[in-house]
Amino acid sequence: MVILVPGGAGFIGSHTCVALLEAGHEVVVADNLCNSKAEVLDRVATITGKKVTFYQIDVTDAEAVNAVMAKHSFNGVIHFAGFKAVAESVEKPLLYYYNNLVSTMVLAQACLKHGVKRFVFSSSATVYGANKVPFVETMALLPPASPYGHTKAMSERILMDLVEANPDWSVMLLRYFNPVGAHPSGLIGEAPTGIPNNLMPYITRVAAGKLARLRIFGNDYPTVDGTGVRDYIHVVDLAEGHVAALNKPAKGVQIYNLGTGRGTSVLQLVHAFEEANGIKVPYEIVARRPGDIAECYADVSKAERELGWKAKRGLVDMCRDAWRFEKNYYVKD
Ligand code: NAD
Ligand code: UD1
Repeated sequence: MVILVPGGAGFIGSHTCVALLEAGHEVVVADNLCNSKAEVLDRVATITGKKVTFYQIDVTDAEAVNAVMAKHSFNGVIHFAGFKAVAESVEKPLLYYYNNLVSTMVLAQACLKHGVKRFVFSSSATVYGANKVPFVETMALLPPASPYGHTKAMSERILMDLVEANPDWSVMLLRYFNPVGAHPSGLIGEAPTGIPNNLMPYITRVAAGKLARLRIFGNDYPTVDGTGVRDYIHVVDLAEGHVAALNKPAKGVQIYNLGTGRGTSVLQLVHAFEEANGIKVPYEIVARRPGDIAECYADVSKAERELGWKAKRGLVDMCRDAWRFEKNYYVKD
């Protein structure tokens, strides 16, 4: 298939490009590079030995998107382009609503115009709000804790309504849990600018000596050791989940959790990282982070049953691969 990948130069998008190319698909990336670099796509080509066609465009720009659509005969779109920093979305809600919703609408509109009927959307576990774990696709959604989360819930709604009006479309809403790690080549990975918000990139930055110590946000949650529990998934497993989703020729809306089904606490992840890499991660316990929930992990039985996909990589792989990428790209700077 020929797949348009908006946001394909980013963390999850670049790993998905690798998985798509390795599965024999053709990949066209549309990215404005607001949170990524074009050389990532060169590294995707190095890993796979295959070419990626790249357009540096903003996918909220309907004219630019239609021009790309007119040049290719796409079989589907996997839409990763968006902003994802939760705290920033609280400070700049309009920026988030505009970019994340308009990109989805412009891309969907262009699909309608160009007869592309397969649309895969990057959603998030945040749409479950404070539901009881494990999160199951059939649960009624509770309000997400941030404007970012609302953009995901609203994009899901827009795409569901679109399918209602166009029953021959296939829309996949993929709800990611906590993607971490990097490609085992060490060539591509997560490269946030500035001080990371998320746990794994913060740990690798502390391990590299770039930040003094990890601050663990709370040890008084009702969890195994009092620290927050999440479902960390290796980004390569997540990428392969997209290929599995594309292989399912179903019409209508399909919703899948992409996680491992296993919860890991902050302290467990820190210790796994220390053991996997033989390096100490100094930490201190500080107050809870506003908006955090105690536990978040997936019921993954639907993806396993219907997509024939299951996350294969464990915590050791996640920690080793994240650290290898950190060493390749950050330790020296
Ligand atoms: P990322 O920031 O690394 O990648 C997003 C890419 O989209 C970047 O390359 C950026 O330059 C591009 N982009 C943003 N707005 C654009 C626009 N208007 N036009 C063109 N390109 C644009 O983020 P990621 O971690 O790879 O996340 C990808 C998607 O998955 C996002 O939609 C995110 O909300 C969603 N998601 C991520 C996580 C996570 O933990 N990383 C969890 C759940 C959902
Ligand atoms: C966060 C977002 C979520 C988003 C996801 C991916 C919030 C509240 N949620 O998920 O909506 O989809 O990122 O971008 O921001 N932690 C520390 N110290 C740190 C960083 C994190 O103790 O320096 C803890 C957190 O309290 C949490 C766990 O580590 O218990 C994971 O945090 P993080 O990596 O930020 O992911 P989420 O909060 O699950």
